[in-house]
Amino acid sequence: MPVTVVLGALWGDEAKAKIVDALAENMDAIVRFQGGCNAGHTVVHGDTTYKFHIIPVGILYPDMICIIGNGVVINLERLLEEIQDVESKGIYLADRFFISSQAHITLPIQTYLDELGEKLSGNQAIGTTKSGIGPTYSDKAARLGLRMGDLLDKEYLKYRLSNLINNKKDLLGSWLENISLEDSVEMLYEIGIQLKSFISNTPYMINNMIKENKDILFEGAQGTLLDIDFGTYPFVTSSNSTIGGALIGTGINPRSIHKIIGVMKAYFTRVGNGPFPTELHDEIGEYIREKGHEYGTTTGRPRRCGWFDAVAARFSAMLNGFDEIALTLLDVYSGLDTIEICTGYTLGGLEMDEYPVDTRLLQKVQPSYISLPGWKEDISSVKNFDDLPENARDFIRTIEDLLGIPIKIISVGAKRSQTIFR
Ligand code: IMO
Ligand code: MG
Repeated sequence: MPVTVVLGALWGDEAKAKIVDALAENMDAIVRFQGGCNAGHTVVHGDTTYKFHIIPVGILYPDMICIIGNGVVINLERLLEEIQDVESKGIYLADRFFISSQAHITLPIQTYLDELGEKLSGNQAIGTTKSGIGPTYSDKAARLGLRMGDLLDKEYLKYRLSNLINNKKDLLGSWLENISLEDSVEMLYEIGIQLKSFISNTPYMINNMIKENKDILFEGAQGTLLDIDFGTYPFVTSSNSTIGGALIGTGINPRSIHKIIGVMKAYFTRVGNGPFPTELHDEIGEYIREKGHEYGTTTGRPRRCGWFDAVAARFSAMLNGFDEIALTLLDVYSGLDTIEICTGYTLGGLEMDEYPVDTRLLQKVQPSYISLPGWKEDISSVKNFDDLPENARDFIRTIEDLLGIPIKIISVGAKRSQTIFR
């Protein structure tokens, strides 16, 4: 059975791209299925660092088929920039890069509305990446959205764009004064001509590959705790970053999935606002941020850092059915005297068995911790599990026990070679 899904298990930025890249070697195709340019996927090859927001990271392998599924939202300008960027590095896309004709488009209207919405929300702002994600998925649900396939028919494009604009007139006000429907249609149609060879009927394409028993890797964006349904609402993204999103965003059925890998960091991070029970506001948090380069790929914002939260991780594992865990950024912990892991929450003195679905409760819980001894050794060139310091192995085994899931991949650095497979 050919599909392996790699999902972020936390609040995004789990180094999913590094894991996807390390696994890609044995794959025939890589598929993105949700999110858009809010994703910041970094891969280091040799001395070169590549940052992707929309194109699947598998594009770095010359023969890999790379697909943007129907569940992804696409900012055309950013897509064209990224295409140009990879082509300028000698990476060719012809006959191996495909975009779903059903994927929705993020227009400047939606990017503007994202910024405006954050401004109007004041102290209730989400702290979005301002990539237009929320408004694009809202318009998709409101049936106002434009899709990639619409770019190929000028008349229909005009028909759909005029409807979108008419529906937004009151909200957009004077912003619309500088927008001409005719010019916008011309511009979008031009872009459609440029992208025509990529726009495809991807549900058939993916299912045909499955029939042919090809190995396909699904590259998740964001993370489980940012899922629109199961995350820390309203401090979430606007797509399903849990396993269901992988089906909805591609058109496959659950029986095609062979393996689900959850990517977790050895510690937790979050960008933007929202509850974070194990957040560290001290020099250890600072140490993790600096050593782990915990600054946003998309926005450059410093990420909030905290201890590993096994309650949240267990919740994430329950929702997604992880077969195995990839534990990343373990090298960042080298040098600490003790490492804490949150194993439970209490609220008003009472122990909680479940991860609270009410974000206001999550705001108030008291995490309880176990302390493990740290290790001093630099582990960034360790290749085998048995060569890790004993305390690092204990840390890994403790997390396995807490989650009841094997940790089969351990990442000790950004490079592909800095990966331990167990
Ligand atoms: P990758 O794929 C981390 C966060 C934003 C904000 C919230 C909503 O790199 O792991 P949005 O722009 O989606 O409306 O913002 O979600 N967020 C991410 N945080 N990694 C990401 O992607 C994220 N994508 C969105 O910071 O809190
Ligand atoms: Mg990121």
